[in-house]
Amino acid sequence: MSPRRAAADSVTTAFEANSEEESLWIFGYGSLVWRPAFDHLESHPAYIKGFARRFWQGSMDHRGLPERPGRVVTLLPNASVQEIEGADFEPGPCWGTAYRILRSDPDRVLAGLDHRERGGYDRLELDLYFPEAADADASVSNQEKAPPTPGLVYVASPANRAYLGFASVDAIAHQIAGARGPSGANPEYVFELAKGLRKMGAVDPHVFSIEEALAEHCSLTGQSPEQKQKRRPGA
Ligand code: SIN
Repeated sequence: MSPRRAAADSVTTAFEANSEEESLWIFGYGSLVWRPAFDHLESHPAYIKGFARRFWQGSMDHRGLPERPGRVVTLLPNASVQEIEGADFEPGPCWGTAYRILRSDPDRVLAGLDHRERGGYDRLELDLYFPEAADADASVSNQEKAPPTPGLVYVASPANRAYLGFASVDAIAHQIAGARGPSGANPEYVFELAKGLRKMGAVDPHVFSIEEALAEHCSLTGQSPEQKQKRRPGA
């Protein structure tokens, strides 16, 4: 399925599809997994298909600085990642957290998120898949049994100026280890995301391999993985 840039009309589409509940779904796959920082009615593990999460987006406003960008995640179509990574690429569902927000909230919530994700992210409307509720506790790997639900997702395309693109796992871990920005240390982003995915029972080889390389780097350099600094709420 090819994504559509979410203009005002697709926001309406997502909204109308949920009009029974008078709500709108937002899907987070990065910092929004572990720090949504917006009011929501409920949240559930969910996944999207056809995209891969990669630490290929530069962060100059949250987890890095313009002179020393950090790295955060974005989504790329599987075909693009396959082209770059070749045989190393393992396609799979991209797990994250879906948040349902109230009808009266979208403007306020989306304005806040647009501001937070202003460093290169655009809104797309994508299909969200929820594991069947009855089985969700047992395993998130169940086949979806219900039709997908439209949801809004923030995606940074390779066209944005902060985009960094592919680098080896070690190079990414090295860059992240040395980066921090107004929202805090870049390693915290990786460790919290990996923790959040594990908590929902999701597997993401890319995230977990960077987490492992980063943990090793931090232990070699004596850097605390939890290193934090006073920060403003953000990504
Ligand atoms: C997301 O979490 O869904 C977008 C990327 C980020 O803010 O880390």
